[in-house]
Amino acid sequence: MRFVETDKLEPGMIVGRDIVSTKNASVLRKGIQLTARYIEYLQEKGYVGVYITDSLSEEIQIQEPIEPKLFYEGMMAVSEENVDAMEKTATEIVSFITKRDEVGLDLIDLRSYDDYTYHHSVNVAVYCVVVGKKLGLSENDLRLLCQAGIAHDLGKMKIPQAILNKEGKLSDEEYACIKQHPKGSFDILSKNYGISAVVKQAVLFHHENENGTGYPLGKEGNEIPYLAKIIHVVDVYDALTSKRPYKKPYSPIAAFEYLNGGKGILFDEKVVEALISVIPAYPAGIDIMLSNGEEAIVVNQSADSLRPIIKIKSDGRNVNLYCDAEYASVYITESGTTQKDYAGKIETLNENRQAVKQLKKKVMVVDDTRMTLMVIKEALQQEYDVIALNSGIEAINYIKERGIPDLILMDIEMPITNGITAVRTIRENGYTKVPVMFMSAAKDRETILKCRELGAIDYILKPVKPVYIYERISEAFHMNRE
Ligand SMILES: [Fe+2]
Ligand SMILES: [Fe+2]
Repeated sequence: MRFVETDKLEPGMIVGRDIVSTKNASVLRKGIQLTARYIEYLQEKGYVGVYITDSLSEEIQIQEPIEPKLFYEGMMAVSEENVDAMEKTATEIVSFITKRDEVGLDLIDLRSYDDYTYHHSVNVAVYCVVVGKKLGLSENDLRLLCQAGIAHDLGKMKIPQAILNKEGKLSDEEYACIKQHPKGSFDILSKNYGISAVVKQAVLFHHENENGTGYPLGKEGNEIPYLAKIIHVVDVYDALTSKRPYKKPYSPIAAFEYLNGGKGILFDEKVVEALISVIPAYPAGIDIMLSNGEEAIVVNQSADSLRPIIKIKSDGRNVNLYCDAEYASVYITESGTTQKDYAGKIETLNENRQAVKQLKKKVMVVDDTRMTLMVIKEALQQEYDVIALNSGIEAINYIKERGIPDLILMDIEMPITNGITAVRTIRENGYTKVPVMFMSAAKDRETILKCRELGAIDYILKPVKPVYIYERISEAFHMNRE
């Protein structure tokens, strides 16, 4: 079987794997032939795609990470807020995964917008166990981790779908409402006396960042329980690679770039590395494009996650990109699960181009390195009005003459007027509220403290990663829901 995105589905294709939801044990069963109506339904409900079988993909077998029945039970337990059933499912997931030498995480979880949280919860639990196993956790810890993974977003059940699925920016109140959910999850678990305090803590702190900028309490570093750190990384990975009404899914590689960008700032480094080592960069069954122009499907993983075994579409030949000499200089240029990396957001405003110009937020980017400016501009310009400047002085003058942008992204190490001095001057000139993110290659405490004193909302480590910058700015504008 192979994966086909919803907008590339055609009537007549045969479904290769059940699609399940909590409202309807099976939305589409394996073996069913797609019709135009089914495809329309899948589009409307927000499914990212479907696994189909055809002659080209007959031999491609993709292992389920856990039994589908178990996955379904987990979803139902979450939807019913049944804490005992969650505990039972967690125990079964752990015993299923620990018994296996390898657990394939190639399958893309197929979920509708409505069912997002249920699928997400079980998926996070499964990924947590695989990552935790890689990190060498004991079976007992894995069980606690898995319980916390399933339960981490229980508090979201009380948040209206209209907020969770809202297209575009959230208001401050809506954003504050989203931020209550870890406490909500904690409270639901607290009603159940049998639940370990370790699980409750992991749930409560799954949105805390290493540098103390997370919520609910702004804990940092070692104050954050280890299990919470694992859930945090897995949670963000799953959210980034999911399709939501307000964004397209990122490819695994783009999501890795984000996690790498946040290593040591938002995320625990070892956890990020463990996750990247267990999740295939190019999952089996997806379409890819090669640098020689050929189209192919990923068949299986090889020893190098960036060079899997593939099937060339035009002639059905199998090629191992890792060791096939003929393909030694050929590489993967695009993978089919997503649009190009940071163009991740759906352009809901595009229908009205006049309005777009007015509504676009102004982001000022200041950096003395032309290359960095170019990379950032390219990442942001589709979504924002980017003002790219080369020095701190230019930024100060621009604001004096033309007013304040909606956000400033400021390099620190610049000649004459460095970023910290520039922002201090801007603040002294009366612009005390404009949100500022600093970028720097340094991560010494003194510099970071200076930035905090100036009210910086974020600190980005160089070299900059486009996906990371894009997502951090989205978050600053309350575009994200996690
Ligand atoms: Fe969450
Ligand atoms: Fe989550």
